[in-house]
Amino acid sequence: MPDAAATRWDPALYARFERERAQPFFDLVARLPGGAVRRAADLGCGSGELTRTLAERWPDAAIVGVDASESMLARAAEGAAHPRVSFAQGDLRTWAPAAPLDRIVSNAALQWVGEHDALLGRWVGWLAPGGALAVQMPNNDGEPTHRILHALWRDARFAAALGAAPPAVRVQPGAWYAERLLALGCEVDVWETRYLHRMPDAAAIVEWVKGTALRPVLSRLDGAPRDAFLAAYHERIEAAYPRGEHGVWFPFPRLFFVAQRKP
Ligand SMILES: C[S@@+](CC[C@H](N)C(=O)[O-])C[C@H]1O[C@@H](n2cnc3c(N)ncnc32)[C@H](O)[C@@H]1O
Repeated sequence: MPDAAATRWDPALYARFERERAQPFFDLVARLPGGAVRRAADLGCGSGELTRTLAERWPDAAIVGVDASESMLARAAEGAAHPRVSFAQGDLRTWAPAAPLDRIVSNAALQWVGEHDALLGRWVGWLAPGGALAVQMPNNDGEPTHRILHALWRDARFAAALGAAPPAVRVQPGAWYAERLLALGCEVDVWETRYLHRMPDAAAIVEWVKGTALRPVLSRLDGAPRDAFLAAYHERIEAAYPRGEHGVWFPFPRLFFVAQRKP
């Protein structure tokens, strides 16, 4: 069974910030090496729109998108069918390809699971000679959106209903990934980008976080406690991201790496 982090995704809510969420995917795949691609996988593919763009990028490739969430895959199935793109339900910790892959892409998904050391070894092991792996993860555990969420989680008003604290930080420093991938014999490119999104107001930031990091809270709280949590969260977000003349500026750090197996 997929765990709670992988389920209860709301494709409609997630799609509200489609342009801002898509940009890191395109910035990631732009740094992949050229060369023939026959087989590729998109791990944690979500609702599949971005997976389909890979078919245009690699005109000879069969591409499989893998995700644990039924609701995200249902949305993927609603999209236009492409003869070279398929989708499969699976946990990215245990799914395995039938044959070596030329490209593996995982955008904004690996942060939901632990065991990065073991997973990097598995994923690099699936690469054909010269194949490449590209990963992007939000790196915002230290940002106000997440610090406020964690503080409210421990707040006496909500702690009992919320239960165990949110998982510890899963995204390691960039150098950690570089070291592991070099030890696995890859050429490595690691970088960080701090996007600066212009939001209409603080409520839009709350809506954004509702689509991802707030999901575990929203699935545990109902009614008045849920309204109280969201009101307290909104108030603190409004104070942490002050309004400028042209909107509310929402900094969003992300970590990227591309690793290529030697030909
Ligand atoms: C933030 S969305 C990113 C979706 C897509 N890659 C994109 O860039 O739009 C994260 C996705 O990871 C999936 N996910 C989380 N944990 C997973 C797991 N253990 N196995 C497979 N998919 C998982 C979720 O279901 C969700 O669709």
